Amino acid sequence: MKAQLLVPAAGIGTRLGAEVPKALTEIEGKPLLVRTLERAAIPECLSPAVITIPPESREAFDAALRAWFPAHAYHLAAGGRERQHSVANGLVALDADTEIVIIHDAARPFVPVEAVRASVEAAIAYGAATVAIPVTDTILEGDDAAFLERTPERRKLWACQTPQTFRVTVIREAHARAARDDMLLTDDASLVRAYGGKVKLVLGSPLNFKITTPADLQLARLIIREGLT
Ligand code: C5P
Repeated sequence: MKAQLLVPAAGIGTRLGAEVPKALTEIEGKPLLVRTLERAAIPECLSPAVITIPPESREAFDAALRAWFPAHAYHLAAGGRERQHSVANGLVALDADTEIVIIHDAARPFVPVEAVRASVEAAIAYGAATVAIPVTDTILEGDDAAFLERTPERRKLWACQTPQTFRVTVIREAHARAARDDMLLTDDASLVRAYGGKVKLVLGSPLNFKITTPADLQLARLIIREGLT
């Protein structure tokens, strides 16, 4: 089955406070996006990756990708206001014969290759899969005034990661219905589930965290310097 990687990289990184788009932030001499692509673009995924970017930064992304991957083709698609809009734009840019799409955040550079492969296998078997890890903290649901409302049973809780991998028909249908219903969620697997689809949970890794804050960036630098991945 032909698989293609879709990397949402259009976040501007407000919480990171950097001057360049988050995906181009240098981590130990390499842009974040480059590190993520090196991990997530598994060899059997030979078709060009689709990368969603802030439209005003097209030249900077093009320059970085040409410098680091001179022999690779890729498609740049304009990102949207929210991540879901960016993914929707990326889905339009997939090759016509792509059957499986691997959606992986640019902001997760330490994804284990085995998790990417396992998500592809689960998507082939079930139609949709997301990488996730069981939570170790107790999770509290609070109300708007910060009072405890509910404590969901921990043994059933997973923290969502990416990749989220789908049969293209499955995720395109979920996005089309969400656009019609004005439903906006922070991940794609939950969209599929919201419309009744089956989504397999595939074990990720604590190292597959999302770089969001300056502290995450420092941790990423340390992980690379210490050779922990
Ligand atoms: O905003 P958040 O941290 O959830 O972003 C996760 C991923 O989605 C990041 O890689 C970011 O670049 C991407 N994103 C996007 N378009 C947006 C917002 C975020 O492609 N409008």
